[in-house]
Formats: sequence, structure tokens, C-alpha cells
Amino acid sequence: MKTVVLVTGANSGIGLALCDRLLAEAADGLQLCLACRNMQRARAARLSLLASHPSAQVDLLQLDTSSISSVVSAAQEVKQKYEKLDYLYLNAGIMPNPKFDIKAFFRGLFSSKIITMFATGEGILTQWDGVTPDGLREVFATNLFGHFLLVRELEPVLCHPGETSQLIWTSSSNAHRSAFSLDDLQHQRGTQPYSSSKYASDLLSLALNTHYNKQGLYSSVICPGFVMTNLTYGILPTLPAFLWTLLLPIFWLIRVFTNTFTLTTHSGAEALLWLFKQRPQTLDPYAKYHSLTSGLGNNYTQPRKMDIDLETAELLYSKLLELESQIRSRVK
Ligand SMILES: NC(=O)c1ccc[n+]([C@@H]2O[C@H](COP(=O)([O-])OP(=O)(O)OC[C@H]3O[C@@H](n4cnc5c(N)ncnc54)[C@H](OP(=O)(O)O)[C@@H]3O)[C@@H](O)[C@H]2O)c1
Repeated sequence: MKTVVLVTGANSGIGLALCDRLLAEAADGLQLCLACRNMQRARAARLSLLASHPSAQVDLLQLDTSSISSVVSAAQEVKQKYEKLDYLYLNAGIMPNPKFDIKAFFRGLFSSKIITMFATGEGILTQWDGVTPDGLREVFATNLFGHFLLVRELEPVLCHPGETSQLIWTSSSNAHRSAFSLDDLQHQRGTQPYSSSKYASDLLSLALNTHYNKQGLYSSVICPGFVMTNLTYGILPTLPAFLWTLLLPIFWLIRVFTNTFTLTTHSGAEALLWLFKQRPQTLDPYAKYHSLTSGLGNNYTQPRKMDIDLETAELLYSKLLELESQIRSRVK
């Protein structure tokens, strides 16, 4: 039996690097499924993986996590194709129209939060969010709710008596309690939907452990560190490519002093790969597993306690179930 691994947002960045590293680790024992919204990009990713791992088994799945109908039909296809899903990497994510908040930056410079601001971007990254055709906020739907619905739909292939499966969320150190509110789950009133959605995924992971561990399903979250990908390039879209090239040596210099500047997608995928090799029962549901890179360029994974609590996690979980049932009755 091959180990079946599905990765959302697998056609670029950290997701694609994870697929490459998984195949380098265990190509012959894996059945890898790339779940992507754009099939042309998905096919290109598959070809690039097969070029370095010719014997690999790589399937493609059309999945747009921001669309309810796409999630439901993709889950249907997965249930038909695979008897059991061993790993589900919930990695697809967006940070649309990001802006650097100069005022917040200067406020942060003269506050007690200065170190957190530099390490995690707290408060200084704002975004302009859109609305999906299903009427949900785009960041909430893409990063969190679509993945939640996917897990719920895939229950029959994730929960097998006597066996374990793992959910692994690509969260962020930009996940802040201050950006999240139970009264505004979709972050309609704020300017940090990305941070809110990532904090919600940390909470949701904890709640999923509470509700599904007995059925053999375990959930964990990781932070890939600061990685140069399409998402990060989008943060300063007006900056010409050559300026980015000039900035890169500075980033590499910063990397000597801070282990969270993983920079390459290969290094950013470290914690995702590390979790693949762990027994899920030994993992801490309150920890975020960080991909880190030392000054000498060595990659490693380190757990750090998350700023989350079970009561808020449970309240979020019941609100998501409520939204799920509203959406299901609307779709019916
Ligand atoms: N880069 C960092 O420094 C950093 C730090 C912390 C956390 N993260 C997280 O890491 C994850 C991967 O991001 P990345 O940095 O590797 O950026 P990326 O290269 O832009 O990868 C994002 C992936 O998600 C896919 N995606 C976006 N919206 C989707 C949707 N509606 N349905 C299905 N797939 C969708 C993208 O597909 P398309 O190619 O079609 O757009 C792409 O494959 C994200 O969850 C991000 O929040 C990144």
C-alpha cells in the first residue's frame, strides 16, 4: 500500500517544494496528489516533479479552496480515487493586495511590540479583501473555510479505525490573536484578514484534535518562516524585479542573525517534511512547528507554544459548523 498524500496549493512556492522533498524522501512509497485551482500550472508542476523523480506517482486534482462547489466536487473525486488519505497538507493560501502600513510601522518602532513587529509583521501588513461568488470573504474562504469544508467532506477517507491520518496546516507567525474576533470570523470589519485567517487555522487545528483524535485523525500547524515566493513578492508589487534582486543579499545577511528567515522554499518546507516523519500521537496540539534556518544554513524544526486556548477554539469550531450547515442548505 502506498502512502497517499494530498497537498493543496501544490503548484508553486512552499507546496511545490514540499512535494519535491517528499518525493526525494520516499518516491517509491508515495501516491502524491497535487490539488490546484489552475490545471495548467498543476500540469507544469507535475512535469517538473517527474523530471527529477521519473518513477513517482503524481496525480492532479482540480481544487479551488475559495469555492464551495469546487471543494465538494474535488472531495468527491478523492473519495472515489483513494480508499484512505494518510496526509492532507492544507497549504493553499492568499494575501491579496497587501499594503505596508507606514504609520503602524512608526508607532511600532516606539512601542513595546517592536521586536514582535519585526519578527512577525504584526500590525504592519494590511490587505484589501474581496468577496467570493458564494458570498464569503475571499481570504477567510481560501485560507480557512474551504480547507475546513474539505476536511469535513473527506472524513470517510481520513478516519479509519485503528489507523492514523494527519492534517498539516501551513500557518504563519503572522497569526495574531489581536487580528481575530469570534464576532467577525470572516474579518469583514478589519484590515488584517490574512493574520485573522491564520490565527483561526491555529485555533481550528486544536479543535480538530479534540473532535477527531479518537477517530485516528490528528492536526498540526507549521510556520515556514519568511520565504521568497509569489505571495511575498506580492507584498511590494510596485517594486521592480531588479530591486528585489538588490534586496536579496540583505535578506541573506539578516538570515545570519535570525533563524526565521528561511528564504528558500526548500528550507520553508522543512517543518512540513519533519511532521511527515513523526508519529502524530507524539505531537503537541498547542505547538506551532517552525521551519528555521541557522546562520550556517542548516534547516531544522522547532515547536513553539501558540497563543491559543481551548474555549476559543471550541467556539470557533461551532461557528464554523453553523456556517457549514447554512452553506449546505443554501447549496441544496
Ligand atoms: N512565503 C512566506 O513567507 C509565508 C510565510 C508564512 C506562511 N506562508 C503560507 O504558505 C502557504 C504557501 O504560500 P507560498 O508562500 O508558497 O505562496 P505561493 O507560491 O503563492 O503559493 C500559494 C499556493 O496556493 C494556491 N492557491 C491560492 N489560492 C488558491 C485557491 N483559491 N484554491 C487553491 N489553491 C490556491 C496558489 O495557486 P496559484 O498558483 O494558482 O495562485 C499556490 O499554489 C500559504 O498558506 C501562505 O499563507 C507563507
